[in-house]
Amino acid sequence: MLIPDIIIAIDGYSSTGKSSFAKLIAKEFGFLYLDSGALYRGVTLYAMENGLIDGDNKVDEDRLRRGLPGLDLHFGNSGEGCMTYMGGRCIEKEIRSLDVSRKVSPVSAIPAVREYVDRKLRELGKGKKVVIDGRDIGSTVFPDAELKIFMTADPEVRAERRMKEMRQKGEKVEFRDVLENVKERDYIDSHRKVSPLTKAEDAIVLDNSEMTLEDQMVWIKELIAGKFSAKR
Ligand code: DC
Repeated sequence: MLIPDIIIAIDGYSSTGKSSFAKLIAKEFGFLYLDSGALYRGVTLYAMENGLIDGDNKVDEDRLRRGLPGLDLHFGNSGEGCMTYMGGRCIEKEIRSLDVSRKVSPVSAIPAVREYVDRKLRELGKGKKVVIDGRDIGSTVFPDAELKIFMTADPEVRAERRMKEMRQKGEKVEFRDVLENVKERDYIDSHRKVSPLTKAEDAIVLDNSEMTLEDQMVWIKELIAGKFSAKR
C-alpha cells in the first residue's frame, strides 16, 4: 500500500500492543519505527546501574540530570535482533524486565528526562515516514503528526498479554503482580505533572481488547485509505 510521507503517532495505555502494532506498520509501509518507551526504559536502566534510585523508588534527579548528556541511547536496525543500545551494548533484554518496569514511571516523570527523550525523538523523526509509539507523542512530541492513534484495552487483557510476553522471555511472573504493575503505571502515567498520558484531541481511539494484530492492520489500512486517498 502506497502512503504519503507522514508521521504516525501511536499513544495509549501500557501493554495495549502499541509496539507490536507500530513495528508491523513500519514493516508494511517501509517506515522507520521509534520506540519512545525503550528510551525511558534505557534511562531507567542507566539510573539503576549507577545507584541513582533508592529502595523506595526515589530518584537522585540532580545526578541523573548531570549524567544525561553523556548517555548514548540509540536504536539499531529495526529488523531482526537487537533494537535498543546503550553505547555499544544491547540492552533490549534488561529494559523489558519487571525490575525496570517497576521503576520507569518515576524516572519518566522527571522533566529533564522527558526533554532528553523528546529531543532524540524529534531528531530521528525529522525525515517523516516514521511511526512512533508512546504516551505523549501525538499530544506533545509531534503535535502536528498527520495520523494519531490512541490505543486502549481492558487492564486484565493487557496484563495477560504482558505476562505471556515476559514468560516467553523466561521471566517468572505471577498474573496478579503484572496486573498490579499495569494498573499502577496507568495511574502514574495519567496523573503525572509533565506530559501525562492523554488522548490528543485529534487522535482516533482504537480499543483492541477483542482484536488481533491482523484485525488492527485491516483497520489502519482502511483508515489511511479514507484519510489520505484524496492526497495521493
Ligand atoms: O511503552 P512502555 O511500556 O515500554 O513504556 C515504559 C514507560 O515509559 C511507561 O510506563 C511510561 C513511560 N513513557 C512515557 O512516559 N512517555 C512515552 N512517550 C513513552 C513511555
